[in-house]
Amino acid sequence: ANPPRPSLRAADKETFAHFTARHRWRDIIKKAIDNICDSLNSSEIDKNEEGKKIVASMEELINQIQRNDQLIQIEDDGRPDIVIWTDVLNTYFKDENWFTATWLFAESYLYRRIISIITNTKHWKNYDPYFHQKGEAFKLSFTEIFEFSKRIDELISSSSSKIKIDDNIIFYELAQISLWGNATDLSMLPNFGNDGNIETKQFEESKKNILVNDLEKAWKWLSKYSNARVDFILDNAGFELYSDLIFSDWLIQSGYVSEVHLHVKSFPWFVSDTTLDDFNWLLKTLQSNDFFSSASEIEKSSLKKLVDRWQSYINNSKWIITSDFFWTSPYSFWHLEEKAPELYADLCKSHLVIFKGDLNYRKLVYDCKWETTTPFKEAIGPLASSKNALPLLSLRTGKSDVFIGLDEGVEERLGPDKSWMYSGKYAVIQFSEGNK
Ligand code: F6P
Ligand code: MG
Repeated sequence: ANPPRPSLRAADKETFAHFTARHRWRDIIKKAIDNICDSLNSSEIDKNEEGKKIVASMEELINQIQRNDQLIQIEDDGRPDIVIWTDVLNTYFKDENWFTATWLFAESYLYRRIISIITNTKHWKNYDPYFHQKGEAFKLSFTEIFEFSKRIDELISSSSSKIKIDDNIIFYELAQISLWGNATDLSMLPNFGNDGNIETKQFEESKKNILVNDLEKAWKWLSKYSNARVDFILDNAGFELYSDLIFSDWLIQSGYVSEVHLHVKSFPWFVSDTTLDDFNWLLKTLQSNDFFSSASEIEKSSLKKLVDRWQSYINNSKWIITSDFFWTSPYSFWHLEEKAPELYADLCKSHLVIFKGDLNYRKLVYDCKWETTTPFKEAIGPLASSKNALPLLSLRTGKSDVFIGLDEGVEERLGPDKSWMYSGKYAVIQFSEGNK
């Protein structure tokens, strides 16, 4: 099935899609080139030569975008998904260029082209051109990292302490931490006090920017279970991943959930998305003495306790880290059941599938020009209407031209300048109970 709406395209001048294709892609590739140049080392001659070739190919990619060339075949790099990319390209986008192709395809194709350039080398095969950026960004969230590690400790011990907090309130709080972990602007994060008072002013402020909030429905759904399985279709590495793991930690500790499946990308994707390497890096970094050199002994030991517990979840298969080609495929999630039947059958065992972030949202709603008042269940098509529809929750801050499920009047209130849609300041939490 395909949606009854036109897709977002970079050719539409007034859109963030257009701005992205005109400016942001070039900047993203340039940054990756800088990272590669910083990794060049004149003592490794062969590797250096190859590195320079990668840089030349990436510069050529920038030129193709700037000239608005037709989309060309992706060079075969031996990855099994190349067949799918070639097929989708030839079937639907053969005569299209960067601006006339759908935004979702053109942008995904860009990241696939970059990976093909890198994979087709001997010395750089496993190189992640965004790795450095991800690490640097994580360091900047130093304060929140410690704050949340203390906070999760309090919440876990809250049942035995004198300040007892109700489970639903904890669920709302941690889901919102995981939500705002997806914001580009980390300064939007609420500042939690040590007094057990989570309803701080800032938290209230950021709540106003959640334009649809289905957390109560999601809680009603999940809290009927004990030993449930929850899946996270993860988004970004670093701080967002950390906030997702804080949430996953409590889900296990609360007893409602006994298994969390964490879906990572199988190669570097959309700059910041989590790969298995990023996941392992996070655990290692949280325990390393020099990464947070200014941390106090108490802070370090609080992180150590946290990571030891997380490591034990992994060892005992309470947290299962997994990946699938589908998450880095050109397909919208409307095609999940049809194009990735095994993955879908596995997700059907889950009691709640949580989709993190903007790109996952775009894929849920097929990246179309929906009216903002379109009901969520209509915009996710078969994901709500199939007889095997999954119970799902989307936690997303807006970084693209699509918002759906809003009440009448909300779009008008936010004004004719559509930048609210992609500023990262507004969010939605949307739930669909599925058909199980
Ligand atoms: O172009 C903006 C953008 O890169 C989108 O392509 C994508 O939807 C989003 O930002 C990435 O955000 P997130 O990491 O939340 O998916
Ligand atoms: Mg991302």
